[in-house]
Amino acid sequence: MAEINLLESLPKIQRNLDKRSLSSREDKLIAKQFGREFFDGPREQGYGGYRYDGRWRSVARRLKEHYGLSEQSRVLDVGCAKGFLLHDLKEEVPGISVAGIDVSAYAIGEAMDSIRPFVQVADARALPFPDRSFDLVLSINTIHNLELQDLFKSLLEIERVSRAHKFIVVDAYQTEEERERILKWNLTAETHMYCKDWEKAFLEVGYQGDYFWFTP
Ligand SMILES: C[S@@+](CC[C@H](N)C(=O)[O-])C[C@H]1O[C@@H](n2cnc3c(N)ncnc32)[C@H](O)[C@@H]1O
Repeated sequence: MAEINLLESLPKIQRNLDKRSLSSREDKLIAKQFGREFFDGPREQGYGGYRYDGRWRSVARRLKEHYGLSEQSRVLDVGCAKGFLLHDLKEEVPGISVAGIDVSAYAIGEAMDSIRPFVQVADARALPFPDRSFDLVLSINTIHNLELQDLFKSLLEIERVSRAHKFIVVDAYQTEEERERILKWNLTAETHMYCKDWEKAFLEVGYQGDYFWFTP
């Protein structure tokens, strides 16, 4: 179990927090449905266009090196959306087995052709796989969309279906200023905490994987 930034190669995005704080209560309710609006609707309701641009390729390479992924490995992405990371993992590690789940029927319906056979609509609280099915389970910026007790369920599910490694990224802060930034940026997260409180929660629930933080 380690705090490790495996997403460091992603482009640093200058996020306009003041503009985001203009999102209305209604925008947030729409965003939380994780439908078309969240991915490909206006910026106030989500990504403002969730398109493949290859940025996950360097993350896939980092995951491959860090976890020693090979064509024998089996990897699950919980909250895979349109499958960009899984696509790049397949490019980076030819022959690897991938699977993805997402609660969004829209995102799964729009999944990239290369990974469409391997993704399905499902909920992080009840992963549709037997125990110990995967060498690596990923979940990036996803489980914080659950309330705490449900989030605990999802962590236990990630533990259950993994036979080796796990890596998650969640909304978190180290300072009051970072906390203010998350409060301004947040559209969908139900749970965000100080990093040290996340670590306590991981211990409490028995999550033994790696983790890192998202702070806008
Ligand atoms: C911020 S997006 C992150 C997508 C992708 N992991 C990435 O980093 O680009 C959050 C994703 O979590 C999915 N999601 C939210 N709640 C979920 C749940 N209970 N089970 C599975 N997926 C969920 C959403 O549909 C969305 O695709």
